[in-house]
Amino acid sequence: MMAVEAVPVALITGANSGIGRVTAEVLARQGYRVVLACRSQARTQPVLEAILAANPAAPPQWLALDLGCFDSVQACAAQFLASGWPLHRLILNAGQGGGRGLSASGFERAFGINHLGHFLLAQLLRERLCQSAPARVVTVASALHHRANGLDFDAVRQPTRSLTGLPEYAVSKLSNVLFSAELARQWAGTGVDSYCVHPGMVDTAVWRRVPRPLRPLLRWAWGWVPAEQGARTTLMCATDPALVGQTGRYYAREREATPSALGQDEALARALWAHSAAWTGTAGLTS
Ligand SMILES: NC(=O)c1ccc[n+]([C@@H]2O[C@H](COP(=O)([O-])OP(=O)(O)OC[C@H]3O[C@@H](n4cnc5c(N)ncnc54)[C@H](OP(=O)(O)O)[C@@H]3O)[C@@H](O)[C@H]2O)c1
Repeated sequence: MMAVEAVPVALITGANSGIGRVTAEVLARQGYRVVLACRSQARTQPVLEAILAANPAAPPQWLALDLGCFDSVQACAAQFLASGWPLHRLILNAGQGGGRGLSASGFERAFGINHLGHFLLAQLLRERLCQSAPARVVTVASALHHRANGLDFDAVRQPTRSLTGLPEYAVSKLSNVLFSAELARQWAGTGVDSYCVHPGMVDTAVWRRVPRPLRPLLRWAWGWVPAEQGARTTLMCATDPALVGQTGRYYAREREATPSALGQDEALARALWAHSAAWTGTAGLTS
């Protein structure tokens, strides 16, 4: 066990905007030292300043992280580990939708960023989380995982095929759901609980690739809510004492929910875990 720290520590990916930003700000107000792992320091700076003003006792930290690039994920984890801080909450929040092509590490873009980068980060921080137990990993997935018809382990190694990128986004979010459930099984008994979240349909930059004229329609059809509301399910999973030990569960809009049939497929989750461990070179770290 690590030395007990007076200040709990949370690392949040993609905390410079949207749901991640609100999550970091609220956790900081609750007394957490927050580490914001994001692509751009310039885009994170206003959030760091707002958090520091609210909680000067525990200055927030920015760590460079591009989830599409394994080297960047490794550097981010190494920098965090070198800080010597414990890690009580790991919030795997960052995500992109609608992009096309390959990630920097050569995987379908949404899969590489939304799933594989987070898988690698969690494996590299596993020991620190276990040493800091009780700890929690919260993975921000999406109800759009219900739209995924399967998980093709060859397709996720190819550039995005669809024109919109949305089918691939659905597969990446199915991967988040499977990963979160398998993490609960693989890490059982470590004192690190795993939760999966659908935040609702939230008015954030994640939809920036949707053509502008369509957005009012989606806002109406999907009932978009503000980021403050969208962050509530993540915050519930990160902090609610009533959820201690409820590892491996899926929550949507602040209530426990049922993932798709594929999202509950344990054999598929084990296969995804094995592939992800092999592709990220973490097979020796994963259990
Ligand atoms: N908004 C919704 O309706 C909705 C619904 C279901 C699920 N979600 C999920 O909620 C999570 C948060 O999204 P949001 O709605 O808050 O959107 P957002 O405001 O666009 O936030 C997404 C965050 O992810 C970061 N990100 C994107 N690509 C990255 C990469 N390669 N490496 C590191 N960080 C990267 C973004 O950083 P940059 O600023 O550098 O791009 C940004 O900080 C995502 O996982 C999303 O899939 C959202």
